[in-house]
Amino acid sequence: MTPPIEIAPARGKLGVLLVGLGAVSTTTIAGVMAIRKGLAQPIGSLTQMGTIRLGKRTEARAPKIKDFVSLAGLDDIVFGGWDIFEEDCYAAARTAGVLEQSQLDQVRAELEAVKPMPAVFDQRYVKRLDGPNVKKGKNKRDLAEQLIADIRAFKSHHGCDRMVMIWVGSTEVYMKETAAHATVASFEKALEQNDDAIPSSMVYAYAAIREGLPFANAAPNLTADVPAMLELAARMKSPLAGNDMKTGQTLIKTIIAPGLKARLLGVKGWYSTNILGNRDGEVLDDPESFKTKEESKKSALDYIFQPHLYPELYQDLCHVVRINYYPPRGDNKEGWDNIDLIGWLGYPMQLKINFLCRDSILAAPIVLDSVLLLDLAKRAGMSGIQEWLSFYFKSPMHAPEVYPEHDLFIQLMKLKNTLRYMQGEELITHLGREYYD
Ligand SMILES: NC(=O)c1ccc[n+]([C@@H]2O[C@H](COP(=O)([O-])OP(=O)(O)OC[C@H]3O[C@@H](n4cnc5c(N)ncnc54)[C@H](O)[C@@H]3O)[C@@H](O)[C@H]2O)c1
Repeated sequence: MTPPIEIAPARGKLGVLLVGLGAVSTTTIAGVMAIRKGLAQPIGSLTQMGTIRLGKRTEARAPKIKDFVSLAGLDDIVFGGWDIFEEDCYAAARTAGVLEQSQLDQVRAELEAVKPMPAVFDQRYVKRLDGPNVKKGKNKRDLAEQLIADIRAFKSHHGCDRMVMIWVGSTEVYMKETAAHATVASFEKALEQNDDAIPSSMVYAYAAIREGLPFANAAPNLTADVPAMLELAARMKSPLAGNDMKTGQTLIKTIIAPGLKARLLGVKGWYSTNILGNRDGEVLDDPESFKTKEESKKSALDYIFQPHLYPELYQDLCHVVRINYYPPRGDNKEGWDNIDLIGWLGYPMQLKINFLCRDSILAAPIVLDSVLLLDLAKRAGMSGIQEWLSFYFKSPMHAPEVYPEHDLFIQLMKLKNTLRYMQGEELITHLGREYYD
């Protein structure tokens, strides 16, 4: 057993800065407020409700995760953020239409107190949106400095001990890594030159990392996942996580696919379609933003099925993903999956899944958990890519020399083993020979 690693205590307030105060953010904030008041349960949150087995099964030690590692308490969180719209969080939550008004009214004062700071925004990266609450600047470097000033002012105004930033803004257009993203020096030059290769989300990520804040990307944009940001994160000791929260259809995909593969059932085709009518759906109705989402959603199956190792079962799998903007549904998405399976001797079978889910209800606990665990990572001196947080993301960030792990159950084991490692507890291998010797 290795000794526990040194973790600074979670003392004082934790400032949580959300970029984009839309459906996911307001559902997260309202939820935390309601839970604090004892009005609701943190269902879906591993940090709040999950337990962790320690030692042998015969020891019957299974504390709650929040009692096992030192996490910020919900009472110590202070929320803030930016948006291109001026509405406070109460008004924004009503616009989003996820939570019932009677529930929002129970935490109205707390929500009204969260007012968006003016955003860094350029419509070229999110074509379907435009709003008035936007910063003006000489160039992108100037805008980044303005964000840094916001971070510092928020910290001192609210007396925060530590801060975390998470991008929960709209999905930006599809972008590829360029020379501007290669090093911190090239990135800073590109900021100065207003280079098109730097979307708004990267300006926020740069500001957060420059301040040494942990940063997570809840959307699929190319944001912190470029060499320049990794170099800066190593220098400033910022832990990073992303990309694109694993909710809804992809969550179900990464639950079902590992099961099919475990039993060596072949898959010829996987057709996924969705209808949703929230603002996210409207943004994703633009083909360029959809392309970013599509790339993020499509990679999971390839990595789970490993067609290069199992060509007879998964080669040439036809994987189609569609998202249709359908306003009457609001945030209540409906997803359909049709899976064409192959069994013993090549006989075909089909599996149909119809998931009537609520996007932001699935996303809010993930936002909370990733924020709390990134803060833990920072206090534990861990920086750069936090692969153990892959559990929460559709396109997990990973080191260039390894493939990303998409299997939800392997991801959970990795997360829990990381917590055991931090606390100097034995890692669980599930070998269990000692019970039979
Ligand atoms: N809900 C889910 O299950 C889920 C899952 C995975 C990823 N996501 C992603 O999370 C993000 C948020 O989702 P949502 O449903 O809350 O969307 P939303 O449209 O309700 O909220 C996004 C908010 O971001 C704001 N915004 C856009 N660009 C900004 C900028 N540059 N600076 C500040 N604010 C900006 C918008 O004005 C909007 O209020 C989306 O990118 C979505 O694709 C959501």
